[in-house]
Amino acid sequence: MVLNCEDASGRLVWNDELSVGIWMADSDHQEIISLINQVLDAMAAKETDVRLSRRLDELIVFAKQHFQREEELFVRYDYPELRSHREVHRFLENKIMSYKNAFLAGEAELSQTAFLLKDWIVLHIRGVDKKYTRFLHSRGVA
Ligand SMILES: [Fe+2]
Ligand SMILES: [Fe+2]
Repeated sequence: MVLNCEDASGRLVWNDELSVGIWMADSDHQEIISLINQVLDAMAAKETDVRLSRRLDELIVFAKQHFQREEELFVRYDYPELRSHREVHRFLENKIMSYKNAFLAGEAELSQTAFLLKDWIVLHIRGVDKKYTRFLHSRGVA
């Protein structure tokens, strides 16, 4: 499957289709995409496991901070889907840890790991994050 937010080399490219219309989230999502691209570049360049692990950790740390920021907004504005969205975030955190461990253990192909990373965030933005746009806009969050 080819995502339409990929360029010919397989790097993720931000486009309006990914915008959730909330400044904080869009800027965080762009940073996550940039960190994923750095991981993909490092994999393509066959960097050492230590370096790859460090890059994956940077992505994991930032993604956790982003999930936290979204959840704080949900709590502040009493978003009705807070619980289910929070559960998805915890699921994604576990998933990315398992990708990291599988890749570093040599149990996952490079192409498979790259695809999973892209799928991991793009599907979440399009399928889950976009659901909060209308609600947060109605509460005056831009
Ligand atoms: Fe998000
Ligand atoms: Fe989210």
